[in-house]
Amino acid sequence: MRLDKFICKSTNLNKEQAQAQIQAGIVKINNDIVCDIKAQVHANNQVRLDNRLLYLRPFRYILFHKPANTICSNLDENYPSLFNFLDIEYLDELHIVGRLDVDTTGMVLITDDGHWSFNITRPEKQCVKEYRVSLSQTLDESAIEQFKYGLKLQGEAELTLPARLTFIDDKNVVLGITQGKFHQVKRMFAALGNRVVRLHRQAIGSVTLDVAEGQWRYLTEAEVASFSAP
Ligand code: URA
Repeated sequence: MRLDKFICKSTNLNKEQAQAQIQAGIVKINNDIVCDIKAQVHANNQVRLDNRLLYLRPFRYILFHKPANTICSNLDENYPSLFNFLDIEYLDELHIVGRLDVDTTGMVLITDDGHWSFNITRPEKQCVKEYRVSLSQTLDESAIEQFKYGLKLQGEAELTLPARLTFIDDKNVVLGITQGKFHQVKRMFAALGNRVVRLHRQAIGSVTLDVAEGQWRYLTEAEVASFSAP
């Protein structure tokens, strides 16, 4: 991790303030003064600011129930960012693990641990994201095999990875996918000539959504570990 970032994540200084402290010659890595803001800090290094040993804040892992008409972005745009719902510090250090569209509701994971996010978003990690889908037209049960085999999405060369489709009734299904391409679920049903009218993410991996819309909670240690590589 870069030295300026390390200082931001272990103090309440912002980036400019952290860089100023480094350039002022009061930051040490392993007892050597370092004035390069881009210097790398490795796991076994000790960083001192004004001779005070610094410790990184622990990672945070958050489950949030996204309402419709909010966006998965750190900034407000045409709709408010879902970060408006989190009454916690250092929001700019957090990122969203697998975005949802503005009209999609449901489970969003938020963290400041980039390695952990990787285990959830990379298709090869096989982490299943489960969506409840309502459709404009009836769906035939033959779709189960089509989703399992893979679908050709518009503009994509490769078929989608095998997905698990379960029927609730002929216009409502649950879909489990391990990929997260742009508008993936909507494009999968569009490939069959159907249209998604409501989309809700109800689970990621073994964690199911259990807070009310607009509410959030920290994941338990066991839940955090359930997404980590073996
Ligand atoms: N797939 C979509 O089409 N939209 C979402 O929000 C999530 C998955």
